[in-house]
Amino acid sequence: MNVDMPMPDAAISAALRGPFALDDDTAYRRWRDQKLARYPRRVEDLIVEVHDPRKLRASEAAELRRVCRIANLAIYASPLAGVADKNLPRRLGAQLGLARHVANPLADDDGISSLEVVPGKMTRGYIPYSSQRLLWHTDGYYNAMPDSIRAFILHCVQPADGGVNRLLDHEIAYILLRDADPEYVRALAADDVMTIPANTESGVATRPARTGPVFSVDAADGSLHMRYTARTRSIEWRSDDVTRAARQFLEQLLTGDSQYVFTHRLAGGEGLVCNNVLHDRTAFTPATADQPGRLIYRIRYRDRVAGTAAAADHSATHPW
Ligand SMILES: [Fe+2]
Repeated sequence: MNVDMPMPDAAISAALRGPFALDDDTAYRRWRDQKLARYPRRVEDLIVEVHDPRKLRASEAAELRRVCRIANLAIYASPLAGVADKNLPRRLGAQLGLARHVANPLADDDGISSLEVVPGKMTRGYIPYSSQRLLWHTDGYYNAMPDSIRAFILHCVQPADGGVNRLLDHEIAYILLRDADPEYVRALAADDVMTIPANTESGVATRPARTGPVFSVDAADGSLHMRYTARTRSIEWRSDDVTRAARQFLEQLLTGDSQYVFTHRLAGGEGLVCNNVLHDRTAFTPATADQPGRLIYRIRYRDRVAGTAAAADHSATHPW
């Protein structure tokens, strides 16, 4: 039995519009050229030093928002290595306009997941709670559209050997796909392009199958949303040639050495704030007698980082 309303996702998906509309090349070019002209080239350009993520100075908050506005992600570095304060991510998010968190079935009651090696969860097939690598994805690709995850924060309390993230702004993925062939974008924006099978545990469906687009545009703020997983087992893709070619292009981009893919291992006290960009993670070394285990807090939101939507990005009066 499905635990939520069996509303077809296709009926509520949002068509591409604004600079993302395929029939308006002028708007696209203007947005694209502006975006690429100021795009960061080095991971260092994404790092913002903060004295305490729970109590940002106005200048620190402004800088995090500025970096998120141009790259959809920012990395903060604080002196709080080893400080296990579970309220930290929520307090940080609140200062960046992130308010509506999305609960996760495996998260602790406060909506904040402690990502660490948990044998019970690992054996149920939840790789984030293991030390294994995570393939490229956006968070919540298995969620229904109204529960789409627009932003998330990862805060590193304790790193380990490994656990390196690669990050790719999904707007850059859109640009590279569209520049290669606009038909790739059209295929990936189809309402039925990707189906995630139902999640079943012990024969009971805990989540129904989800069919929906890879690319969609938020009806409220005009921002681009991406739903993707590089996982292949039991993901159903539309089987036409253009979809296949688009997927291959994206896979090559993610596995190649694109200048737009950033690589970073979060150190203790560091964190990632992002508008749910594409990301992966390498495997890491589990805890030993001498080395504590890796601990990352994660919180996910329905909101984007304030002031980073396409509409805000276009405001000529918005100071950078
Ligand atoms: Fe993730």
